[in-house]
Amino acid sequence: DIAAYAASNFTVYRGDMIHTPRLGTLEVIENACVGVDHDGTIRFVSTGENYVEEAQKFNAALKVDTISVCELGAKTGSFFFPGFIDTHIHAPQYPNAGIFGESTLLNWLTTYTFPMESSIKDLKLANVVYNKVLNKTLANGTTLAAYYATLDPDATNLLADLCLQKGQRALIGRVCMDSNSPDYYVETLEQSKKSTTQVIAHVEQRDPLGELVQPILTPRFAPSCSSDLMHWLGELREAKDMLCQTHISENAGEIQWVKGLFPESDSYAGVYDDHKLLSDKTILAHAIHLSDAEKDIIATRGCGIAHCPISNSSITSGEARVRWLLNSKIPVGLGTDISGGYSPSILSTARQALLVSRHLAMKSLQDNDKLTVNEVLYLATMGGAKVCSMENKVGSFEVGKKWDAQLVDLNVENSPVDLFEWQVPQNSSVVGNFPTATKFENMVAKWLFNGDDRNTVSVWVNGRNVVNKIC
Ligand code: GUN
Ligand code: FE
Repeated sequence: DIAAYAASNFTVYRGDMIHTPRLGTLEVIENACVGVDHDGTIRFVSTGENYVEEAQKFNAALKVDTISVCELGAKTGSFFFPGFIDTHIHAPQYPNAGIFGESTLLNWLTTYTFPMESSIKDLKLANVVYNKVLNKTLANGTTLAAYYATLDPDATNLLADLCLQKGQRALIGRVCMDSNSPDYYVETLEQSKKSTTQVIAHVEQRDPLGELVQPILTPRFAPSCSSDLMHWLGELREAKDMLCQTHISENAGEIQWVKGLFPESDSYAGVYDDHKLLSDKTILAHAIHLSDAEKDIIATRGCGIAHCPISNSSITSGEARVRWLLNSKIPVGLGTDISGGYSPSILSTARQALLVSRHLAMKSLQDNDKLTVNEVLYLATMGGAKVCSMENKVGSFEVGKKWDAQLVDLNVENSPVDLFEWQVPQNSSVVGNFPTATKFENMVAKWLFNGDDRNTVSVWVNGRNVVNKIC
C-alpha cells in the first residue's frame, strides 16, 4: 500500500532518478536509492544496495522492518522527477480556463477576469473552484504553486486551508487592489491593509513554521494599486522580509497606462522599486517588454521572473526574452497563469516555453534564444524553486531537501507516449552531425512533448503521498 510509505519512519525510494540541478544539465541517477525520513527530508541519495546501512547511519535506532521500500521507479519507462513548480497561477480564474476569445490584457481583465474573481467571494463557490484547482494541479505533478486568490480574505484563507489539507506546498496571495478597478471589485486602502493583515495572520497561525504554506504580498499590478497602498506593502515587506508577487510589463497598453499613472517613476520596474517592492523574495510575472535598465534593476534587487508562455501566446502579450534574463543571472521559473493561460499543467507550459523561445529565435535571428528540453525542465523545477526562494528546500533531489517528487510512467495503459526499444545506430547517416542524446534524454524529450497527467502516476509533497493513481 503506497499510502503506508508516507506514514512510516523512513522510506527508501528505489528507481531511476532524473533531475536538472543546473541549467541545461539533465542528471540521471540510475538504480538509485533515496532515503527520506519521517519529516520528508532527503537523508541520502545513493546508487548502492546497502540502503539499510545508509538509513541506519542516519538513525542507528532504525530497524530493518521499519524502513519502507518503494520500488516503483524501477521499471522501464518509469522514473522519479522533482515535482513541478508553478510560479504564477490565479486559482479563482480556473473556471475561465480556455475562455479568452480575441481579448488582450486590459479588456480580458474587465470582460472575463474581474467578474469571475468577484463571484468567488461566495465561499461555497470558492470551495468548489479551489478544490478543483488543487486536485488538477496536483494530478499534473505541481508540488508547489504561487497562488493569487481574490480580494476576499475569507475565500483566500480557505485556499490556504485546502492546500494544507490536500498537502500542496503553496504561497498564498490575497490580491490587493484599491484603484482603477470596477465598483464591484475594488477595496479601499484601509480595507486592503486590514484584509492583508488578516490573511497573513491566518496563514501563519495554520502553519507557524511555513513548512507547507506561506503568505505572499500580492499587489495585483501597479495600475490597480495606489501609491499609498504600495508604500504600505513595501514597508511591510521590508519589515517582515516577506515574499511578494506582482505583474510587470506584460502588454503595451498596460505599460503606457503605468507611465501615465506614475509619471514620477523612471519606468514600470521603477514604480515597484520606488515603493520598496523589489527584493530577492519578489516574483515578477511576465516581464516581456522590459528595457535594459529595468532588467538591470531587477537583477540588482535579485527578483525572480515567472515566465508564462501559454498566457503570453493566448492573450497575445509577446515573447519574454528568457535567455536575455538568464544571461543577467535573473532566476526564471514557469507559470501557468491560469486563466490568461488555459492549461493547469507545468509540463505543457514547459513545452510551450520551448516553442515560444523558437519563435523568438526566428524573429531575433539569434539561435541562442532557443531553449532546450533540459533547460525548460530546469525552469519547471529548479528555476521555479529559486524564483520562490526555496532553492534550498525543493527543486532537485539533494540531501537536505524535501521529497517533493512525481513518479512518471511512460508505459501506463493508454499512455500518450510511445517508447520504442530500438534506436538508430549512432554512426548512421540519419543521425548525421547532431549530438546523439542518451537513452534517458530521448525518453524525457518524449515525455515533454507527448506526455500529460496520465503519465504522472504518483506525487509526493514533503514526503507525503498526495496523489496516487497506481492502487
Ligand atoms: N495583470 C493584472 N492582473 C492580471 C491577471 O489576473 N492576469 C494576468 N495575466 N495579468 C494581469
Ligand atoms: Fe497573472
